[in-house]
Amino acid sequence: MRYALIGCGRISPNHIAAAQANQLEIVAVCDLDKRNMRDKELKFELGESVHQYTDYFEMLQKEKPELVAIATESGKHAKIALDCMDYGCNLIIEKPIALSIEDADQIIEKADRLHLKVCACHQNRFNKSIKKIREAVEKNRFGRMFYGTAHVRWCRDHEYYDRANWRGTWEQDGGALMNQCIHNIDLLRWMMGDEVEEVVGMTDRLHHDYIEAEDLGIALIKFKNGSYGIVEGTTNVYPKNLEETLYLFGEKGTVKAGGQSVNVIEEWRFSDMLDDPEEIKRQFHENPPNVYGYGHTPLYADVIDAIKNDRKPYVDAEAGKRALELVLAIYKSSSEKSIVKFPLENCTTTDFKGKFE
Ligand SMILES: NC(=O)c1ccc[n+]([C@@H]2O[C@H](COP(=O)([O-])OP(=O)(O)OC[C@H]3O[C@@H](n4cnc5c(N)ncnc54)[C@H](O)[C@@H]3O)[C@@H](O)[C@H]2O)c1
Repeated sequence: MRYALIGCGRISPNHIAAAQANQLEIVAVCDLDKRNMRDKELKFELGESVHQYTDYFEMLQKEKPELVAIATESGKHAKIALDCMDYGCNLIIEKPIALSIEDADQIIEKADRLHLKVCACHQNRFNKSIKKIREAVEKNRFGRMFYGTAHVRWCRDHEYYDRANWRGTWEQDGGALMNQCIHNIDLLRWMMGDEVEEVVGMTDRLHHDYIEAEDLGIALIKFKNGSYGIVEGTTNVYPKNLEETLYLFGEKGTVKAGGQSVNVIEEWRFSDMLDDPEEIKRQFHENPPNVYGYGHTPLYADVIDAIKNDRKPYVDAEAGKRALELVLAIYKSSSEKSIVKFPLENCTTTDFKGKFE
């Protein structure tokens, strides 16, 4: 399958490695900065058959890839995705899928109309720990779900934001919730049944006064099935990343996934006693080299299979929209000091420009 990557920055090695591991035919890479492409060429021994472009339109015209991954700054995802679909490309779009509800809806509509597959790159859904927990949810082992909590307690320093000046801006990114916490927000919403009734949130910029958006976000969620969610995410933790943790509390089960990025099952308690908690904790314990984890490779495998078998990807564009919607709702609630009802309409990160000025 002919594959191309647009955006060869910080997360791009995970994409190239995933494409190689899945034996995709990498036909091209594209970046505005030639040095970024050259770095990846050397690191992954891409060779001359992998053409390099600075203009993605030219790349799409000449290379005709069947699958394109978009890993540019977040504010560019939607426009590039819509353009790629004009060339018949299936897509893996880095998170967040877009920065506005309208853009996410356009991506979903166009993909449906053109029968193209679009995957939102929430790779943590493929963590072994998360797959095990999801299986327990699907088998209804928790009984009635009471509540779940998602914590992202990470550290991002001045240098991280300096390295790419789009980070932390309302036009291209958003803050800790939109960038760093959106994976866990996706997991929480998904595990709790997806359907949100209402949200109340508070956000602030306490530490990184050189970014526009929040570096701390806290929210309470009421789901339509009567359960609750708590979100807490920050990039202010001293002096380094502490954890990305997901708790689920049900009538008959209690689970905690922790570690750097929900890769470790730390608690596993079920009334059905179907498995040995100590064995589960031993078995579901991964320690990846960074917070991006090992999920890109199985996510790619799923998308390739979805294209071949004409089915939806495991994490489709609607899932990407749901995570985006929840973050935007928290922003809106914080801004308006109100409870925000779902579904959320016509909301974008740029609505919150100037919030912390
Ligand atoms: N899934 C994850 O865990 C994860 C982790 C990190 C980043 N991300 C997401 O990936 C995206 C990229 O993040 P990053 O940290 O790699 O950013 P980055 O700034 O390091 O890289 C972005 C790259 O895109 C290139 N680019 C911009 N416009 C382009 C265009 N029109 N055509 C071709 N290339 C273009 C830039 O030159 C840059 O090299 C963001 O949306 C971010 O939220 C996801």
